[in-house]
Amino acid sequence: MTIRLGDIAPDFQQESSQGSISFHQWLGDKWGVLFSHPADFTPVCTTELGFTAKLADEFAKRNVKAIALSVDPVESHHRWIGDIDETQGTTVNFPILADVDRKVSELYDLIHPNANDTLTVRSLFVIDPNKKVRLTITYPASTGRNFHEILRVIDSLQLTDNHKVATPANWQDGDDVVIVPSLKDEEEIKQRFPKGYKAVKPYLRLTPQPNR
Ligand code: BEZ
Repeated sequence: MTIRLGDIAPDFQQESSQGSISFHQWLGDKWGVLFSHPADFTPVCTTELGFTAKLADEFAKRNVKAIALSVDPVESHHRWIGDIDETQGTTVNFPILADVDRKVSELYDLIHPNANDTLTVRSLFVIDPNKKVRLTITYPASTGRNFHEILRVIDSLQLTDNHKVATPANWQDGDDVVIVPSLKDEEEIKQRFPKGYKAVKPYLRLTPQPNR
């Protein structure tokens, strides 16, 4: 099944390194980052999972729960987590789904036969508290993902949801943002953006980041 932006993230029940998980129930009212990797005991994945563990405070600050997936079994995950903790100097504090029967991989289209006919690709989904998919990315197996970029996108999505602003190219936290084109009411604009805005063009209105 192809997952598109705005779709409801498919629900599932699957075993993990932290026991059986009912996905929607596990997410509760939080945001989620579900990310797949090709296999346990592989070098790039070892660094990715270690780095994600180190970002635990950053995920928590944004109300986000992380969950990883590969098609290896729970016992393998436990042994591998020992290696990740040891080599990356961290503690893996999020579950890794053991998708041995490929149930979740099929739901989320994680096996791309022209890349590899048994292993999952390096995909990632950001899911909002309404269980809607807000970001999908798929990287090649040999390229580790940039988790700072994932946090940046989550910040952008949360700014849009909370403040009716979008973020321009290469935006970083603290830079000016763009008032969404659908917001036209001047009274609401004044209320939302008391620092004012600069209309470079009628459709390009820059304002200081409202939550700073
Ligand atoms: C990996 O670490 O997952 C990996 C590295 C090189 C090629 C494919 C996968």
